[in-house]
Amino acid sequence: MGFIPDNTIDEILARTDIVELISSYFPLKRAGRNFKALCPFHKEKTPSFMVSPDKQIFHCFGCNEGGNALHFLMRYEHLEFPEAVKVLAKRAGVRIPEAKKESPGILELYKINNLAMQFYHHILLNSSQSEPVRDYLAKRGLLKTTWEKFKLGFSPPQGEALVNFLKEKGIDLEPAERVGLLMRRESGGYFDFFRGRIIYPIFDLRERIIGFGGRVLDDTLPKYINTPETVVYKKGENLYGLNLSREYIRDKGFVIIVEGYMDLISSFQVGFNNLVASLGTALTPEQVRLLKRYTSSVVVLYDGDKAGELAALRGLEVLLEGGLEVKLAVLPSGFDPDSFVREKGKEEFEKIIKEARNILEYKLEILLPQYNLQSIEGKVNLIKEMLPTLAKIDNHIMLSEFVKQLADKVSVSEESIWAELKKGRERKRGFNIEKGSLEERIPIFSSLREAEITLLRLILKEKSLVREARSLMEEDFLSPEVKKIVNLLFTLEEGNKPIEPSRIVSYLGEGFPNKMVTRLLMEEDSEEAKQDYTKIFSECVQKLREDKRRKTCERLREEIALAQKEGNLERLEELLREFNAIACGRK
Ligand code: UTP
Ligand code: MN
Repeated sequence: MGFIPDNTIDEILARTDIVELISSYFPLKRAGRNFKALCPFHKEKTPSFMVSPDKQIFHCFGCNEGGNALHFLMRYEHLEFPEAVKVLAKRAGVRIPEAKKESPGILELYKINNLAMQFYHHILLNSSQSEPVRDYLAKRGLLKTTWEKFKLGFSPPQGEALVNFLKEKGIDLEPAERVGLLMRRESGGYFDFFRGRIIYPIFDLRERIIGFGGRVLDDTLPKYINTPETVVYKKGENLYGLNLSREYIRDKGFVIIVEGYMDLISSFQVGFNNLVASLGTALTPEQVRLLKRYTSSVVVLYDGDKAGELAALRGLEVLLEGGLEVKLAVLPSGFDPDSFVREKGKEEFEKIIKEARNILEYKLEILLPQYNLQSIEGKVNLIKEMLPTLAKIDNHIMLSEFVKQLADKVSVSEESIWAELKKGRERKRGFNIEKGSLEERIPIFSSLREAEITLLRLILKEKSLVREARSLMEEDFLSPEVKKIVNLLFTLEEGNKPIEPSRIVSYLGEGFPNKMVTRLLMEEDSEEAKQDYTKIFSECVQKLREDKRRKTCERLREEIALAQKEGNLERLEELLREFNAIACGRK
């Protein structure tokens, strides 16, 4: 939870009323024990945004946003966690302990970046030596308002322009070296890192400048140089343009990912605002998490030439792993988004985006001509190539749908693809689903999942059940989210900490999908249903235990077979004893 102590956060939450907080932004209507309103996080006509004064949480049954007062502030005001804490602390009159604040050193670094941006921007707009640069940008179709919007700049070629500027401003040069703007001469003294380049400042979500890219004006190489990793610039944790595009991404319901600065800027200029640029590097899980705050649907827009490469597709699988729906839009060969949007205009661009196709279909299409499907070997190899991608799909409906398509195109049975997929998954997670036909397997899977979700729901609502649930172990749960929540509840219970809805969601941390928890907490049960809590609880526990027992039996059976094959009698006897104990229900 960063540098603010948990008990400070507890205190802030305890002194905040979520109903009061949210009502200060828009009116809430009473609805039974709760309050409701039109959801501010997605478009809707009838209210499904609920706020609970008892539990001090909100949840939208439409878009599944949810959390406590802090989460509301983070999402509504687009604050990051520490900032939201500060705002609420002020409101609630709670003092945040001083010592743990962001170190002044870091603030100095942002300040230097900001000064440098202003310097370069000023030079681009006003200096006579920037005449050719302004011509260049104009020739590339960028309007002056766009230079201003993106705070583009020009770094003079001389070599000590920024050094001198910072000196004049009385700035210490050593921190400017630490943010990558200056380099140290061996003979002593500093010189500018960016010389004679168009400057693209990179902003984070709090509109702070964390780094820069610099492009040459001709064909010299390297085309771009970029700020290296620094204390404030962590490349895999940011996406270019997201500070400007996040609202549009939310509104449009999807994000377009492009590669370059110019791709993003040109698209913005013609009115496509729901974009981010990856800046030519592979996407990281952190970046995927960042995007997931705003949407669950992604269109990747690559140059016509690049999209044909399997390696490029592989780089996108991290999006699938993040549970996002991934489509690929392909430009005609020879174009990149920037040149396309400039030459063909907005409507054609829109068409390309509309024609985006699911990444799996796309990959299959590339692979199909590469294999001879008349031969068994060809089929096997093609499917082998598809499997790792399939295994990364987080959404079961999407997966089933695609398995069906794949089976059809390659003419093999769906069943056999599932079997291969399952092998891979077992290896990966050590996770066994009961053997049997597909029809048998899927229901077991989902009813198990249901059992664990129901169990979670019960222990979230009925604190006395937390203690009873302790007879279950972490490995009894399938889903990592459920595991994490259950573990948290156990820890809270153990430490005699209050198990309150608004704190549970705050302890789960920033990146955690709160949606499941707030939803479970917000769904009201009737009084009769509450009578049955204990009974349902034991049914769920039993189901999970039974599943565990089944898995153990399965494992033992395999080990027994192995011991028999090896003729290891001692081991065999031991295993049989264990097996009998479990089969007779003694374990
Ligand atoms: P591109 O070569 O597609 O550049 O690289 P671009 O953005 O289209 O630039 P223009 O249109 O030639 O002006 C895509 C991205 O890869 C990174 C940059 O972030 C660039 O925007 N890149 C590329 C580098 O970091 N260094 C390079 O030498 C080249
Ligand atoms: Mn380009």
